[in-house]
Amino acid sequence: MTDAVSPEVAAERLAHEISRRRTFAIISHPDAGKTTLTEKLLLYGGAIHLAGSVKARRATRHATSDWMKLEQERGISVTSSVLQFEYLGYQLNLLDTPGHEDFSEDTYRTLVAADCAIMLLDNRRGVEERTRQLFEVCKRRRTPIFTLVNKCDRHGEDPLKLIQDVEADLGIDCFAATWPVFDNDIFVGVYDRLKREVHLFERSGDRGATRADDTIVSIDDVALIETMGESAFDRLMTDIDLLDAAGHTYDHDRVIDGSLTPVFFGSALTNFGIEPFLREFLELAPAPGPRETNTGNVEPESTDFTGFVFKIQANMDPKHRDRVAFVRIVSGHFEANMQVLHQRSGKPIRLAAPQQFMARDRVSIDEAWPGDVIGIMDRGNLRIGDTLGGDGKLEFQGIPRFPPEHFARAIPADPLKRKQFDSGLRQLTEEGAAQVFFAETSAGSQPIVGAVGQLQFDVMAFRLEHEYAAPCKFEKMTYRWPRWITGPKADVERVATGQGRLKLFDHKGHVVVLFSDAWALRRALQHETSVVFHETAP
Ligand code: G4P
Repeated sequence: MTDAVSPEVAAERLAHEISRRRTFAIISHPDAGKTTLTEKLLLYGGAIHLAGSVKARRATRHATSDWMKLEQERGISVTSSVLQFEYLGYQLNLLDTPGHEDFSEDTYRTLVAADCAIMLLDNRRGVEERTRQLFEVCKRRRTPIFTLVNKCDRHGEDPLKLIQDVEADLGIDCFAATWPVFDNDIFVGVYDRLKREVHLFERSGDRGATRADDTIVSIDDVALIETMGESAFDRLMTDIDLLDAAGHTYDHDRVIDGSLTPVFFGSALTNFGIEPFLREFLELAPAPGPRETNTGNVEPESTDFTGFVFKIQANMDPKHRDRVAFVRIVSGHFEANMQVLHQRSGKPIRLAAPQQFMARDRVSIDEAWPGDVIGIMDRGNLRIGDTLGGDGKLEFQGIPRFPPEHFARAIPADPLKRKQFDSGLRQLTEEGAAQVFFAETSAGSQPIVGAVGQLQFDVMAFRLEHEYAAPCKFEKMTYRWPRWITGPKADVERVATGQGRLKLFDHKGHVVVLFSDAWALRRALQHETSVVFHETAP
């Protein structure tokens, strides 16, 4: 606990800590360079000294952990973590989003916890499918977006064409905040249009393992032409004239409301353009702001601690059976062991053993501030979407829930391990990626798992075997399209048992119906007007 200070000093400190925080996520299509960029942000933040170590460390851990082995086998990242590091006095919280589309549910919730996003594009591919999906989520929430065109060290699409494509494809205006400088088609620097500075990079020969050194020259400096060389200078001047005449102007309010994105150019591999991007990003990106609740906005400067759970992860460390609830702090000063109201249960809970995450390493912390994400060790009390702190009945809005799209019967391989199987299934589904249903309400009935993506079944089977010693098989079902139904009991029963329908119960005993095909669902929605159909649990 910190020493008691006067309310004025405490408020000043709170305001200072909020103003220096940037909580963001990277949205991109696989292969655009998210891992490489993350590594370089950590390099610039001083959190690692030689880039390449994140990957290298990941590789060693793959060898030592079964869970990681799955990631390795599949070539995907399934766990998402929060990376925290400092740079130039700012505190950066990078919420890592799983890249695989089957984990989109997790990713969408992570985006809710972020205050802005970096949209990373490949300079040859521009906007791709996954970027488009994630962009749509950000757009709905009016999340400010900073675009970084990556891989400029190799020849790509014309930068102007890329910008036009982003505007046409995503319906967002672009402001070229930096512009690539080419010398004989080789990427040698960037021009920062807001600071009116040209950054010319020096090749290090270590393939970006250390920071890129650069020479910074003002665009108005008469020596620039000499430093750059005539042809590079002429090309840049032509480009700038074109941008000034035809491009959008910078408007900070429009960046903050998500209708204008500043666009940067760089190479995460060679580090060229990454530091100018990072500096502008830190200055322009929003500090944690107010968040919407059922009773109005909560301001970050409010002295009462509040936050919400956006992710639950069981067994992050398979050697220590544990369950971590990730809480995004919205307001107030968090202190370890503080007691807060758990809104859903109405009971106070003590937030013991909070942790923050540095790559996969955890550190215990004493305090945290709005914008930070803390991991709370939890015994099963917390759920995704839960609000912590505040007066009774406070509920943060906008944490999305997604109905499962695929269903499978879960069959334990060893009936004697039923207890481990049940408890594993319960804990894993509490993480939020899958839900358990039953054909009967009685105990011991065979569970049916509903998941947002097919891959979840493989992940669950793997984890049940390796983390709970309860191997099982998932038998995929053809029934899909779940709807929760409410209404007069006899009608619910009749509708639920009709042809082409499968009646199930969720863990709370609510009736859920699966349909054999989309047509059967459509017909039910049209004709069964005596009951109400819900896409998620009522
Ligand atoms: P991801 O997390 O978005 O999936 O992408 P990741 O960083 O793993 O990068 C995907 C590939 O793109 C990697 O090549 C990586 O080296 C390369 N890459 C990333 N940034 C740049 C860049 O600025 N310029 C160029 N030219 N390439 C870049 P790989 O061959 O798949 O892997 P590796 O053997 O290089 O590690």
